[in-house]
Amino acid sequence: MHVAVLGTGHMATTLATGIIAAGHTVTFGSRNPDQHTDLEAPVVSVTGALSGADLVLNALNASATLDALTPVADAFDGLVVLDLGNAADEHFQLLYPADSLGERLQKALPGARVVKSLNTLPGEVAANPSLLPEPTNVFLSGDDADAKALVSSLLVDLGWPVEQQIDLGGIQSAHATEAFFAFFMGLMPIVGFGPINIRIVR
Ligand SMILES: NC(=O)c1ccc[n+]([C@@H]2O[C@H](COP(=O)([O-])OP(=O)(O)OC[C@H]3O[C@@H](n4cnc5c(N)ncnc54)[C@H](OP(=O)(O)O)[C@@H]3O)[C@@H](O)[C@H]2O)c1
Repeated sequence: MHVAVLGTGHMATTLATGIIAAGHTVTFGSRNPDQHTDLEAPVVSVTGALSGADLVLNALNASATLDALTPVADAFDGLVVLDLGNAADEHFQLLYPADSLGERLQKALPGARVVKSLNTLPGEVAANPSLLPEPTNVFLSGDDADAKALVSSLLVDLGWPVEQQIDLGGIQSAHATEAFFAFFMGLMPIVGFGPINIRIVR
């Protein structure tokens, strides 16, 4: 598939590497395409990157996502958007504690189908789960079954077999995984920064 990766930062470039290694193609969308000539895929404007995309990966700074994408909402009509953002301020406090960026992004892009995933773990693990010595879990939230199936297939290609994927239900369930960010940021300084993830054990 062809993936529009929005952003040129850590998550965008790390996941693009995994997506390309899995045999897919990528175009990055950036505010400043001319400043990113060293990336491993073409870099164009955010709306330009959407052209021909089968899937959009939103890896913009999460707290800037709504302001950046709402004015160009029409350009997302018909697209599946995998959003991995955890919107927080500089003190790691959640910006939308009563709901979630995922829900707000779905409302801001009514013609798109938003799926929340890959927001509960470090980018390097998201792109390459075999960095960890044991299988761990990744979560999906979204209202559209076909959109979740498309995201699920990309996750499989990144190394997340379906049995490690947990479908939490509709996009409102992004509230739970985004709230997990608060715990995650408390945990990391204690256990150490680096590849880490959780697994559900029954
Ligand atoms: N870091 C992680 O391990 C991790 C894990 C899970 C989830 N996340 C989520 O992923 C998001 C991205 O993380 P990151 O580490 O990749 O951040 P990052 O390195 O700062 O990259 C964010 C990108 O967003 C774009 N951007 C920044 N400010 C913007 C603005 N005001 N308007 C529009 N675009 C803007 C920039 O791309 P251009 O300059 O090219 O436009 C920038 O490269 C985070 O906000 C976080 O919620 C991160």
